[in-house]
Amino acid sequence: MENANNISLVGSDATERKTKKPRRCKHEIYNDHFQNFKRYALPKAQLVIADIPYNIGKNAYGSNPSWYVGGDNKNGQSELAGKNFFDTDVNFNINEFMHFCSNLLVKEPKETGKAPCMIVFCSHMQQFGLIDLAKKHGFKGSIPLVFYKNFSPQVLKANMRIVGNCEYAVLFYRDKLPKFNNNGKMVFNAMPWPREQVSKIHPTQKPVMLLQQLIALFTDPGEVVVDPCCGSGSTIIAAKRSGRSGYGFEIKKSFHRDAIKWLHQEGLQGSFLDVLDSAIA
Ligand SMILES: C[S@@+](CC[C@H](N)C(=O)[O-])C[C@H]1O[C@@H](n2cnc3c(N)ncnc32)[C@H](O)[C@@H]1O
Repeated sequence: MENANNISLVGSDATERKTKKPRRCKHEIYNDHFQNFKRYALPKAQLVIADIPYNIGKNAYGSNPSWYVGGDNKNGQSELAGKNFFDTDVNFNINEFMHFCSNLLVKEPKETGKAPCMIVFCSHMQQFGLIDLAKKHGFKGSIPLVFYKNFSPQVLKANMRIVGNCEYAVLFYRDKLPKFNNNGKMVFNAMPWPREQVSKIHPTQKPVMLLQQLIALFTDPGEVVVDPCCGSGSTIIAAKRSGRSGYGFEIKKSFHRDAIKWLHQEGLQGSFLDVLDSAIA
């Protein structure tokens, strides 16, 4: 089997276009706690992508040059020294998060190769706790994912120790292996992290291209992707660019405002409906 990890960004769109009518997609980002999801009559999701707060406390910028003014320790500490990534990065309720996800994913169909899944970006310290907790919510299966960068944010420690260049996530599924649009190629669990030239809305913003690859692997065009803590809205943008519906929640007003702005720049107006074929053209 051929080795891949240059995964298609759109999955099985070509087949979809030939065989089915285009499906209408919808994209929404709510300025609310995901715990209030019942207010919004969300459709069930084929894929949840979540980047949960890392709860790493007041040293979020440790080893990162932005701890200092202009990235230079001779200039003294910057306003980011001793700070959380964002002030909502505390007291995240992972139990409620798991409950939300297991409620929101579509039920496993009888056929194989169609089951839903969720991908949770997390710190490497959170992985085993998450796997244990997910089991209690019915997610019996898990696959660790590692994303490697060709750079490290920990440059201040570069002469003292090995520096980190990886991000981590865990893929969770219930009784059946998830849908897998690998197009006959082997997919490794260590994947390159694309570096994108976009101005960042959020300190832990994920690259849209990476999110598109994951969406293409685990969903078909027209299906629903949900991000319960969507920050900049990157997952919803990725869903939009991939011809999938996307729904996100973000509690922080300023992130939500900027995420909506980004969504508008993508040619959307809040609950604007668009057609699959134009989204992937
Ligand atoms: C790690 S960040 C997500 C960043 C995002 N993946 C991106 O690419 O921009 C987590 C976000 O979850 C938000 N958050 C925390 N608790 C939440 C909750 N209960 N409901 C909705 N959003 C929440 C935080 O404000 C934060 O912006």
